[in-house]
Amino acid sequence: MSKERMNGIIIGCGYVGKAVAQRWREQGLTVTVTTTTPTRLPELASLSDQALLLRGHDASALRAALQDQQVVLLSIGAPNAQVYRETYLDTAKTLVQVLQPATSVRQIIYTGSYAVYGDRQGAWVSEETPVAPVNSNGEILAETEQVLLSASPTVRVCIFRLGGIYGPERELVKIFGRAAGTTRPGDGSDASNWIHLDDIVGAIDFARIHQLQGIYNLVQNQPTTTGELLTWICREHRLPPVTWDASQPSSRPYNARVSNEKLRAAGYQLAHPTIF
Ligand SMILES: NC(=O)c1ccc[n+]([C@@H]2O[C@H](COP(=O)([O-])OP(=O)(O)OC[C@H]3O[C@@H](n4cnc5c(N)ncnc54)[C@H](OP(=O)(O)O)[C@@H]3O)[C@@H](O)[C@H]2O)c1
Repeated sequence: MSKERMNGIIIGCGYVGKAVAQRWREQGLTVTVTTTTPTRLPELASLSDQALLLRGHDASALRAALQDQQVVLLSIGAPNAQVYRETYLDTAKTLVQVLQPATSVRQIIYTGSYAVYGDRQGAWVSEETPVAPVNSNGEILAETEQVLLSASPTVRVCIFRLGGIYGPERELVKIFGRAAGTTRPGDGSDASNWIHLDDIVGAIDFARIHQLQGIYNLVQNQPTTTGELLTWICREHRLPPVTWDASQPSSRPYNARVSNEKLRAAGYQLAHPTIF
């Protein structure tokens, strides 16, 4: 792969952003990353060419940070449910605004969530399926996508709808270990969609290299059910099994089987197509 002089900025350099920064530097890009936490600057400076303190809705700081950048990864993540609007929507609105009237930016890649599909009682959904968020945060994520898609026509916008993220330091047993030996509401048949960090990084770089635009589900080839997933985790880690109380409704509002056919048809092959 040819080394190309391209400048890339990662707005919100957390778990995903750090891994992409490493990949982009390996690809020869000049990488700028941002955080809202001053104490993280030294760590981020060590894995990038430039680390900046930046809140997404700060128009002047964002405009300055975007100077001479060609590709933007928007991988901000709300630290809690109360700040979804400020984190996602206000940042998206500010980003689209500061790209006017002219910009060096050629592509925005955004890491959204499949939560926008809402509860489909386990039915399959694709990028053609209309969104149906089940709560105000889901609505904010759906609106954020539309704001980004309305960016200047000179900018290609690629929206990834991610499944639950797992990977190094975020192993599934770390996420679900506490459920071992407990009784959970529902019968465990609801669908769950996951994506490994390697494939998030791989798909983001694939989108950059192939200049993708539009909406793409970023999940594994085959959804599991929550029951299958927890059974596998408990068996793999010799933990007491989970039991189910089918008299109680499931606590998961996003019961949809998410298809990644479009991304595969675009030519991306997952390194981790399934969990087990
Ligand atoms: N976790 C999942 O399972 C999951 C599932 C689907 C989609 N996603 C999406 O995947 C993306 C990446 O997730 P992640 O796990 O890498 O997130 P993360 O580790 O929590 O990192 C989020 C980054 O966003 C920054 N940030 C937060 N609020 C901001 C604001 N107002 N302005 C600018 N930056 C802000 C944080 O700043 P600090 O450095 O100061 O903390 C941090 O660098 C997120 O968009 C998330 O919504 C995650």
